[in-house]
Amino acid sequence: MASARFSKAPIIFASLFALLLLLILLPHSPAPQYLPGLSSRPKPIPNIVHYVYLKKDEHSVLHFTFQDFLSVYASIIYFNPTSILIHTDHNESSIGHAATFGSKWTRKILADFPKVVSTNYAEAPTHANGNAISKIEHKSDFVRIEEVYRTGGVYLDWDVLPLRDVKYLRESGFQNVVGRQPGGKINNGAFMSQKGSALTYLMKRDGPVVFNGGWETHSVKLITAISDRLVRSSGEVLIMDEKAFSPTSWKTGSVDELYAPHNDTPVTQSPQVNDLEEDPLLRWDNKNRAKEWELDFSGTYLLHAFRDRGHKVDGFEAVTVPYVLARDSNYALAAWPIVRYALDQGVINESDVEP
Ligand SMILES: *[C@@H]1O[C@H](CO)[C@@H](O)[C@H](O)[C@H]1NC(C)=O
Ligand SMILES: *[C@@H]1O[C@H](CO)[C@@H](O)[C@H](O)[C@H]1NC(C)=O
Repeated sequence: MASARFSKAPIIFASLFALLLLLILLPHSPAPQYLPGLSSRPKPIPNIVHYVYLKKDEHSVLHFTFQDFLSVYASIIYFNPTSILIHTDHNESSIGHAATFGSKWTRKILADFPKVVSTNYAEAPTHANGNAISKIEHKSDFVRIEEVYRTGGVYLDWDVLPLRDVKYLRESGFQNVVGRQPGGKINNGAFMSQKGSALTYLMKRDGPVVFNGGWETHSVKLITAISDRLVRSSGEVLIMDEKAFSPTSWKTGSVDELYAPHNDTPVTQSPQVNDLEEDPLLRWDNKNRAKEWELDFSGTYLLHAFRDRGHKVDGFEAVTVPYVLARDSNYALAAWPIVRYALDQGVINESDVEP
């Protein structure tokens, strides 16, 4: 019996040794060729915010609205960016003039945050693919890509209102984070990219080649095709759903749903559906809704607040301080925390009624 027990020991030791050897060697064995390799974690997308403001014609002057100001101020407060660059083809003297004599919000944007906000001269392209580029929206499509390709960062259209930080997205390890718009295409009015990313490079390379004057050919259509294709390149593109950056659309019903006042009693109860509660359990268990018309922006980082130029929203003129403070529309509720903060900081005034 004893000899039988002893005779098993070398087998046990040999097995343990083999197991140990396997454990040491296993992580070093190369991945099979048919599995994609994971490279080391890339750098975060730079915390630089980009806007584009181009001249419509020779006589254009720089003019910003309160809604533009809200976008810039929310970027400053939520993102704490290293810089905010306004790419423009207005010259130094026009910018200086606007910063001194412009509207209240023009002066605030251009002069009140000198450590963060600056302008950068950007030449607007005039031709692509043998066609004149006549619309400033199209010129802006090209300038934004050029600038984000050059330095990296977060691009925002002026009607995009940040609702919270995008740090987790910038630091996700993806070279580009883009979002779908209602209908499923990728929106080019709010996205973020690493400096020199393949997505922005391809937009820059192929945009001018496909340009034909069509509204979306060189922009939304192209960025959708490239993004969808590049998802398969590890770490290149993260596509967010429409709630993330464009929860509402440019269609009449949706524009009304976002901007129209309800002539309701102001929302004062808390917690509301858009309560700032971060705790996941408390957040889920809060079933309160201040108003039945209240949209849930829990999934929204950037609210691309589209409008429909041909449509007048009943009871709505423009985004102003009193409009937001009334908290009688979904846009107002979304903007309220940042406006309240600006008031508390003394950055704006309850008597500032200019749009
Ligand atoms: C700057 O632009 C304004 C308006 O377009 C123009 O009148 C002015 O001559 C320009 N100034 C310089 C120094 O180019
Ligand atoms: C607030 O409004 C008053 C009166 O209109 C004005 O004098 C003051 O400069 C404003 N403050 C700010 C921070 O805009």
